[in-house]
Amino acid sequence: MAKGPVLALVGATGLVGSALLSFFLDAVSDSRLSSLRILTTSHASPKLASARSHPSDRVEIREIHYSDPSSLDAALAGVDVLVSAMGAQSSPEGTYESNKHLLLDAAVRAGVRIYVPSEWGTDHNGANQDAVQSPMFANKQAHHAEAHQRGLQVLAVYNALILEISFSDWLGIPTGASSTEWTVPRPEHPVAFTSLRDLGPFTLSAVLQTWHAPSSSAAPIPSRLRIYSDLLTLDKAADLWEEIAGGTVKRNYVDSDGLKKRYEEIKPTLPPGMLGPAIPLMISLGGFDYSQDCANSLLNTGEYAFEPRTVCDFLAERAREVKQAA
Ligand SMILES: NC(=O)c1ccc[n+]([C@@H]2O[C@H](COP(=O)([O-])OP(=O)(O)OC[C@H]3O[C@@H](n4cnc5c(N)ncnc54)[C@H](OP(=O)(O)O)[C@@H]3O)[C@@H](O)[C@H]2O)c1
Repeated sequence: MAKGPVLALVGATGLVGSALLSFFLDAVSDSRLSSLRILTTSHASPKLASARSHPSDRVEIREIHYSDPSSLDAALAGVDVLVSAMGAQSSPEGTYESNKHLLLDAAVRAGVRIYVPSEWGTDHNGANQDAVQSPMFANKQAHHAEAHQRGLQVLAVYNALILEISFSDWLGIPTGASSTEWTVPRPEHPVAFTSLRDLGPFTLSAVLQTWHAPSSSAAPIPSRLRIYSDLLTLDKAADLWEEIAGGTVKRNYVDSDGLKKRYEEIKPTLPPGMLGPAIPLMISLGGFDYSQDCANSLLNTGEYAFEPRTVCDFLAERAREVKQAA
């Protein structure tokens, strides 16, 4: 097997990063990655226990601080691929906007070849951003363009909604009881969901196919990747929940105009990095319909193939939890 790259992961203690971490640790074990470097401001976090106890000596945890760019330089020396799952809100380390810029500067200085920026959500390149005008989307687009312009091979992963956190009150589609009430955007469009456990396989496939491609050939993987584990309408998901959990889902249908009004009311109070009611609005506009222009078949193929988690599987697990808690 050709030698794998040295991969650095930022944000490994967070929601998305910890899902990537467990898959990348396996990829070190089977040498798809030469080594894994975890760059963290939370060196002692219990969330890094699996990295600390990894049997190989090719997993390193490096403490970084954004106020000290030399710590970023030292941690990125010799790194081929940088995957960032940096949280999109401010932390004691500073703002997301400024810290990802510091990280990009350091990646350029270190000669990193492939950069996966902290996207992990909506494809905001077209109608979605036109409709919601999110500062976070604008910032993510500018960051992508800058990284590309500075010579990095950028792979942006747009995984739409994260399956494990979406069937909840915040999105108006709760699954805390067998009988429940959902707010369902209209008109109806399919909605893409990606499981946390599928983020690693999709991302590593994109990274390794790019890494192993001969430099003389065109990049095999595009720079913007729409992926999903499963795709279905929310009405279909409500039918599934009724079937699996044995209750009824009362459906309140709200059209794009109503969702737009609700979003515009709340928008001025939304903290940076939060989308809140922009998501149902984008659903009503077809913004999470990834049935077109999707990278699944490019990534989930050949030696990179895996079985994605379905919404049905997830809801069956939720229904068991609800039953046990009753
Ligand atoms: N599609 C979806 O449904 C969805 C949901 C949530 C998030 N997202 C996206 O996924 C990405 C990661 O979000 P997340 O929720 O996984 O992040 P998170 O849990 O809030 O934070 C991830 C990690 O990033 C580091 N971090 C956090 N804030 C930082 C800051 N201001 N500056 C520097 N480092 C910081 C910390 O790592 P260390 O302590 O190890 O340094 C933290 O544990 C974001 O781009 C977000 O927009 C998408």
